Amino acid sequence: MDQHAPSTRPRVIAVGCDHAGYPLKPDLLAHLEALGWRVTDVGTHSATERVDYPDFAALACAEVVAGRARFALLICGTGIGISIAANRNPAIRCAHASEPTTARLTREHNDANALALGARMIGSALATDILDAFLEGQFEGGRHTARVAKLTPAFSQDTLA
Ligand code: RB5
Repeated sequence: MDQHAPSTRPRVIAVGCDHAGYPLKPDLLAHLEALGWRVTDVGTHSATERVDYPDFAALACAEVVAGRARFALLICGTGIGISIAANRNPAIRCAHASEPTTARLTREHNDANALALGARMIGSALATDILDAFLEGQFEGGRHTARVAKLTPAFSQDTLA
């Protein structure tokens, strides 16, 4: 099976954030729903109660790995911590983006399955544009397929043995 073929997964996005990322979330959830995406909101649900971003990265990424969500949308203060946390999961290819071109290219070249945004760095309008670019991007396959395959643990184990 071609794991990078156009997705047959449900049109669901798992959204996770920490307290610093929370302020961006309501607008992005409303935008996703207006686009016809179903959202699995794994929390957090407050900008004032401090939580740890790795916990919410793990919850959202678990939805992708289980096949219940096509993508994860992750938000923390900078977007960096939650992207690092997401990429600890070997099945996740999470890109931190602060402008739309990166978000489109990471779908086209990396077949990214998670997007990380920084709510303390960008506003809602730019975040929405970045999210749109990510969702519109289609993996190009071709020369990128073997490169993305080399990101998987199976490749690492084979070549490091
Ligand atoms: C929380 O204060 C902040 O450190 C977190 O949201 C994120 O920016 C970490 O990378």
